[in-house]
Amino acid sequence: MSLKIKNICCIGAGYVGGPTMAVIARNCPKIQINIVDINEKKIKEWGNKDLNKLPVYEPGLDEYIKECRGNNLHFSSDVEKYISTADMIFLSVNTPTKTQGIGAGQASNLKWIEASARQISKYATGHTIVVEKSTLPVKTALTIKEILNGSNIDNDKTFQILSNPEFLSEGSAINDLEKPDRVLIGGENKEAIDSLINIYANWVPRERILTTDLWSSELSKLIANAFLAQRISSINSISALCEKTGADIKQVSLALGTDSRIGPKFLNAGPGFGGSCFKKDISNLIYICDHYGLYEVSKYWQKVIDINFWQSERISNLVVNKLFGNLSNKKISILGFAFKANTNDTRESPAIKICRNLLEEGANLKIYDPKVSKSQIDKDLGEFLPSNKNINSEYGNWIYCDLAEKTFEEADATLILTEWEEFKFLNWYDLALKMRRPSWVFDTRSIINLDLAKKAGLKIWSIGNGTLIK
Ligand code: NAD
Ligand code: UDX
Repeated sequence: MSLKIKNICCIGAGYVGGPTMAVIARNCPKIQINIVDINEKKIKEWGNKDLNKLPVYEPGLDEYIKECRGNNLHFSSDVEKYISTADMIFLSVNTPTKTQGIGAGQASNLKWIEASARQISKYATGHTIVVEKSTLPVKTALTIKEILNGSNIDNDKTFQILSNPEFLSEGSAINDLEKPDRVLIGGENKEAIDSLINIYANWVPRERILTTDLWSSELSKLIANAFLAQRISSINSISALCEKTGADIKQVSLALGTDSRIGPKFLNAGPGFGGSCFKKDISNLIYICDHYGLYEVSKYWQKVIDINFWQSERISNLVVNKLFGNLSNKKISILGFAFKANTNDTRESPAIKICRNLLEEGANLKIYDPKVSKSQIDKDLGEFLPSNKNINSEYGNWIYCDLAEKTFEEADATLILTEWEEFKFLNWYDLALKMRRPSWVFDTRSIINLDLAKKAGLKIWSIGNGTLIK
């Protein structure tokens, strides 16, 4: 037995809520889906006729929005109304790391989850299935259950809770949602689980839909992210060893990845992992382990974060060293600001930390990213703008450029921080002519054509490539 779901409400119209619901809407045309958010500006942007101006950039998402918006996919800030009409409610709200109080810097801030649960408890009607889509500490479903049932004095509403963590990666979200490796559903009630299975079964093969208990599902999400981040810290730690020994990290990755037990994915060395998930979720794992007295386990995972911090620090340090230990009044071109290619998201982007370090050394930066807006970079580096009167006079400043080529004028160096496709095909010969000599390319993503850059007379550092270091 399962309930026939006709109306879905998704609370949170962000990087997860938007794409996830768009894919459900397209695959389930008979279900009406309302995505609600307290951020009215964001809701307005989701309604933008110009599909280039949606608040989330994801390749292919515009097509889904074009097809479904106004038909069975709707955006609204009327949270109460759409909670009350839903048979199933997805919680896709943010769960960032706490910045103050108990667990600051590690524990997840669950205030948005709690606020949503309280709203559901108040406005839901009849029987409602509540689905945790946000990434949550293990046992959060217990809290949600208590809140949902707590205010139900008249016993006129009933709830079931499911955990259905989202595994999409930004930049490939549509593909990840259309063809997931697996869909994970944790729950206690078969009827509720079957209702959610029936939605996914519209496009996901049944053998890819896994069901578990609630706690295993909640925990699996945190651990999947911890394992992925650990792989990046592992390869990044070895990139430094390659640079010391004359080995090449790309060749090492290839050799490792052909072992079927290791596999080829997620072995690209880079400036360190960014994004809203990895650091937050490992920090939360560390907090949970400490809570249960598993100090050796938490120390083990802490190292993954430590290496990540060290990787971006060592990159900014080596830029300073190569440029004669002094960046004062030097011009540096910055290519890429997003935490990875194919997204406009800059949360925890290694570019933020590296740019800050260079600005503190006095460098003047020209920054270009194909999808990150100037206003977003203002938020991330705003205190370094010359208009800020409190700024330390020794610091450098930055400007935004709308074309990669414009960042090279009189530049002493260019720093590639995001692996956007267009950076793979830069015309190094023309760009080198614009730069001041000696001119450096620092390729933190190892994507450029080294031969062409060398022929153009540039000095090159590429991550993990010990063959370049004499
Ligand atoms: P986001 O910040 O992009 O979106 C969350 C949205 O929720 C915001 O627009 C916010 O205004 C809204 N919101 C918060 N409280 C609300 C309330 N009470 N009522 C209505 N709206 C409310 O966050 P995101 O990146 O979409 O992440 C959401 C969750 O999914 C997090 O737990 C995250 O860890 C998890 N997750 C994220 C990704 C990813 O790639 N970004 C992938 C998998 C899982
Ligand atoms: C991650 C998880 O992959 C996804 O399953 C989860 O749902 C959310 O968190 P996301 O952060 O969007 O997704 O992107 P991901 O592709 O995992 O990249 C994270 C960071 O690792 C980026 O900064 C990326 O540049 C970096 N990375 C990734 C590397 O440096 N090398 C790699 O080989 C892969």
